[in-house]
Order: sequence, then C-alpha cells, then structure tokens
Amino acid sequence: MPNWIAVCMLSDIPVLGSRRVARDRGPQVALFRTADDRVHALLDRCPHKAGPLSQGIVFGDAVACPLHNWTIALDTGCAREPDDGRTPVFQVKLEEGQVMLDRDELDTVGIDLPPVAAGPCTRATC
Ligand code: FES
Repeated sequence: MPNWIAVCMLSDIPVLGSRRVARDRGPQVALFRTADDRVHALLDRCPHKAGPLSQGIVFGDAVACPLHNWTIALDTGCAREPDDGRTPVFQVKLEEGQVMLDRDELDTVGIDLPPVAAGPCTRATC
C-alpha cells in the first residue's frame, strides 16, 4: 500500500512542463504535467545516455529528451521505437490539487543509478 506524501501543488508544475523532486540519494524525480492536467513521474534520467528528461519537451503523453531527442512515454517510461530502453516510473496521486508520491518508491527506485549526464546543477557548491 503506497505511503503517500505531498511533494508540490499541481499549479507548481507548468502545463506541458516539468518540475524536479530532489532526493537525498540517486537521480532526482521529474514530474510532468500534460495539457489535460494529468501528472506523471519518471526518474529524471534518460534510458539512452542519462540525459535530464525534466529539461525535455513535453508533448501529448511523452517527453523528448534534450540530449538526443529520444521520445519517452510518460506513462510507462519506455522509449518509443526505433529506440529501446526504459526509465523507472513512480506512482502519482492527485488529491485536492496536491501532487503526491509514494515515500517508499522515493526512497528506493533508481537510488543506486549514477546522476544525470547534463542539466542544471543541484548542489549549492556548484
Ligand atoms: S540521453 Fe536521452 S536521448 Fe540520449
């Protein structure tokens, strides 16, 4: 059973845009908002060469990776053909305008993967 925690408001995520959720370890989690206000959460790490999916372009139910333009399905994390690969997906719940993620997934999913290959700095010392 999910252990839901609120991470932001739906209104904090731009329509057809993204927002990142920081974790103590491992790559961050990218939240994506579709044009019809659905929210998907993926590990912010492209299955190709670890590009930052949160910096990609959201269209329909997919995001185009900013590094080499692979298209990743937001619901499954799978790359669209002819490319092949999958980034981990997180459960999302919307409740009264709040975006909620499962604490247990945040603490475990993709936690041992190396950081993204490019993108905005996440450390105060950078
Ligand atoms: S790293 Fe995402 S398409 Fe290459």
